[in-house]
Amino acid sequence: MEEQLIIDPASPERLPELARALLHGQRDPVANAANLSSLLYHGLGRVNWAGFYFLQGEKLVVGPFQGRPACVEIPLGRGVCGTAAASGQVQRVDDVHAFPGHIACDAASRSELVVPLFDAERLLGVLDLDSPEPGRFGEAEERLLVEVAGIFVAACDWSPGGPRVY
Ligand code: SME
Repeated sequence: MEEQLIIDPASPERLPELARALLHGQRDPVANAANLSSLLYHGLGRVNWAGFYFLQGEKLVVGPFQGRPACVEIPLGRGVCGTAAASGQVQRVDDVHAFPGHIACDAASRSELVVPLFDAERLLGVLDLDSPEPGRFGEAEERLLVEVAGIFVAACDWSPGGPRVY
């Protein structure tokens, strides 16, 4: 990225275009996850955590993020992130207190949106957003995050010989 991106939480519909520009020319998953976390954190507004967990064996391990320090490991099937990873389904939770097994990393979090990341059939991890507002994430935000997650996966080199997350 050569130029400063104009990041405006009043225009979240521009996030896919900004994500493409931000990740352009870089194939390293950690570099791209780090910059994308920042873009989502600053570009969405009313979000207190934005970041990644990557699959290591049977568990998710925290990756680049913005927000308060988070739990490091999440077993597949546990919490909102582990449920998204194990089911392969987006999890949009209006009230995290009502989600059985929710893992509270930041007590301020009230709603959450998690998109599983796949390279074809291979589970890579999840992209996770938290908000201090109940019901912060609607269908529009879900569509947006799914699109941005797709841009992230496509931008990175996940091959064994490529830049590795771990
Ligand atoms: N709340 C998540 C844990 C990750 S943090 O929100 C960053 C969950 O229940 O899986």
